[in-house]
Amino acid sequence: METRGIILAGGSGTRLYPLTAAFSKQLQPVYDKPMIFYPLSTLMMAGIRDVLIISTPTDTPVFKKLLGDGQRYGITISYAVQDEPRGIADAFRVAKDFIGGSPVCLILGDNIFYGKLNFLRDAIKANTGATIFGYQVQDPQRYGVVEIDAQGNVVSIEEKPTSPRSSLAIPGLYIYNSEVVEIAASLAPGARGELEITDVHRVYHERRTLEVQMLGRGIAWLDTGTPESLLDASTFIHAIEKRQGLKIGCLEEVALHQGFLTSDEYRASVALLPSSSYKNYCESLYEER
Ligand code: TTP
Repeated sequence: METRGIILAGGSGTRLYPLTAAFSKQLQPVYDKPMIFYPLSTLMMAGIRDVLIISTPTDTPVFKKLLGDGQRYGITISYAVQDEPRGIADAFRVAKDFIGGSPVCLILGDNIFYGKLNFLRDAIKANTGATIFGYQVQDPQRYGVVEIDAQGNVVSIEEKPTSPRSSLAIPGLYIYNSEVVEIAASLAPGARGELEITDVHRVYHERRTLEVQMLGRGIAWLDTGTPESLLDASTFIHAIEKRQGLKIGCLEEVALHQGFLTSDEYRASVALLPSSSYKNYCESLYEER
């Protein structure tokens, strides 16, 4: 069965207050695009064409206005509301009907990946239970942390530990078989009062079906939850786009590249864009062809 995609784009975004007082975190600009363009393009580049966006009651209509039903990108986007920020694992309760019996890839709406992203497509293909990733960071205590042995097997997983047992953070990008629905339904809230994604991973680990794959230094993983990391992400995207004259996370371009849109469909999508440097960029792509 085709793997479906979920973008979790709710939460309270308190660390970005007052930016988030009226406007969700995942709609904030990361240089020249709304933040959610980046995780959506990551899923699309992995070949995912069926995506559910989960957000708050007030922000969900804004995401709908921004992205519509996905037709302009040759994909299907549906929406679901998380009425309270009950934690990341709550996504699988909200998305129960969407997931059905399919495998699923969850990305957090404030996580940006840049670099050679084939790893995701390969991991989706190879996944049998759950696949998470490990990424070397300087401040692992801010994240879920995974400890592995010399063979790459999981030894421990901890959520925001004060004394991390490794420097491998777990990025907000995860792949699961459809068992995740039943696992999430069986969880009780953790110490923070949230349904913890780490507890989902512990269950897969106990069932011996949790895989961890290392992401090397050739992949940039940025999260954008604080004012400083948000600015860093904008600076990073700006530096690369300016140098190459290519855009990162341009959804029309990704759709064309993936073959989700034929060239005629692409032209029709681009024709609907308002005059902007974004439209000029999209037009320059079919002039090149
Ligand atoms: P966090 O950054 O952990 O939480 P937050 O976005 O509420 O921000 P803050 O800590 O500043 O208050 O969330 C990670 C991602 O998951 C982010 O994209 C928001 C999303 N999220 C939900 O959609 N629902 C939830 O219940 C939680 C906890 C997070």
